[in-house]
Amino acid sequence: MIQSSSNSPRQSENAATVTATAHPNIALVKYWGKASEARNIPAVGSLSLTLDGLATTTRVAAADEDRFELNGDTDASMGQRAFAFLDQYWPGRPALDIASDNNFPTAAGLASSASGFAALTLAVDSLLDGGRDRESLAQCAGSGSGSAARSLFGGVVRLDPPAQRDGDIRVRQVAEASDFPLELVIAVTSAARKPIGSTEAMRATAATSPYFDAWVRDQAQDLDAAEQAVAARDFDALAAVTEKSCMKMHAVMLGNDPWLLYWNAATVACIHEVRVLRASGLGVCFTIDAGPQLKAVCLPEDADRVAETLAGVDGVTDVLRASLGRGAFLHSA
Ligand code: PMV
Repeated sequence: MIQSSSNSPRQSENAATVTATAHPNIALVKYWGKASEARNIPAVGSLSLTLDGLATTTRVAAADEDRFELNGDTDASMGQRAFAFLDQYWPGRPALDIASDNNFPTAAGLASSASGFAALTLAVDSLLDGGRDRESLAQCAGSGSGSAARSLFGGVVRLDPPAQRDGDIRVRQVAEASDFPLELVIAVTSAARKPIGSTEAMRATAATSPYFDAWVRDQAQDLDAAEQAVAARDFDALAAVTEKSCMKMHAVMLGNDPWLLYWNAATVACIHEVRVLRASGLGVCFTIDAGPQLKAVCLPEDADRVAETLAGVDGVTDVLRASLGRGAFLHSA
């Protein structure tokens, strides 16, 4: 349920601060590549899990001049990106004071841009309009960061690219968090910011990887397989398509010229551990994003064993846990 931070569902420019929280999401069927960079429209659909536990909380208020703080510090480059995004959707907006906090490492392949843009969109919409439905909010957040569109919804979420050229992305919830309880165990192998951002990396893939066309061509098949596996609560089928999609995405960028690899030695060691655990009968599979962290998707009864094992892998500096959570929400006043 969307809650308003005032008694009125519409908040005016001079209303007090609006606060929104969004959780990151982790794609099982991956998005990689843009159909339109100007509108930030993905070339392929994706299917993701919205997490709980990890969160971005963003406070927005009208101000005399634009200010942007991330985790308590002024962040000029993130601020520039955020305000350019806001200008697109709220032309003529008032100056805004924005303070955003992540309770997990930023820009390290933990989907902080997804939760960041989802929380920002919801907070600013509430402060200035309050009129958009979830689909439109997702449309808007997705133009800031492709994966952010998915964080507006909870549980398992599917995003499809526009049906027609110049159309809109389509985002919908495939299952509630409680329909298919899954746990995430995230093996952090480096908290450093990634050396190359996803937009630049995707641009290089589309321009130089010989595998890009095949990646785009087969994506709908993987999406349908994943959605069916979720509908049937079939963990093994979901595991198979999850690992296939992850490995294909990284294979596509290995084909970039120059090649691109986000993994480190510990990432690879974790992949092998997950294989061993699954071969021993545990419900676990892995996925990896534009960073070196490995995300193990687990059946709840197996998550403790997976967490213990990954914590013992050389080079794993931290293990984070999450289950499935809700879409972005506003705080009550
Ligand atoms: O939303 P972006 O531009 O940060 O791209 C995210 C891409 C991946 O995380 C690698 C895959 C995905 O679908 O989330």
